[in-house]
Amino acid sequence: STLGAMPTERTFAMIKPDGVRRGLTAEILRRIELKGYRTVGLKLYQIPRETAESHYGEHSAKPFFGELVDFITSGPVVAIALEGENAIAGWRSMMGATNPANAAPGTIRGDFATSVGENVTHGSDSPESAQRELALFFAEGELLK
Ligand code: PPS
Repeated sequence: STLGAMPTERTFAMIKPDGVRRGLTAEILRRIELKGYRTVGLKLYQIPRETAESHYGEHSAKPFFGELVDFITSGPVVAIALEGENAIAGWRSMMGATNPANAAPGTIRGDFATSVGENVTHGSDSPESAQRELALFFAEGELLK
């Protein structure tokens, strides 16, 4: 039966500089492992400014763009490539709403964040973004087959 079958996907997940600074790395990786996603790429990474501007390119006209780039380059992030059934929407659901005021308890932002800018984690929002962001943050040899 194909009932309930979901696509195996890869997505880009990131622990933002506030999450790393606050010592939330282990807790977030723990939640990912308990959920059952396969981690196929993982590194501590200081994002170059040009990479940050490209990553957030779709927001370049927004008033908070400068702030967003300053923040995301303010310290190391943990870049993570995840694989699993329905991983793109699944990881976003584990993170909770972008604005922590709307994020349910039990989600990462619901449990750990209070600011829409400093909201601990990032996740790709579509298969196209996932492909683009994985290629931006990882060289081919850094991802498991
Ligand atoms: S939008 O305008 O709806 O497209 O923006 P949104 O998708 O909600 O958020 C995009 C990313 O921008 C961050 N963000 C902000 N940063 C600083 N200040 C303000 N006011 C702000 N609003 C949104 C938000 O955390 C999103 O980051 P990512 O990494 O994509 O989750």
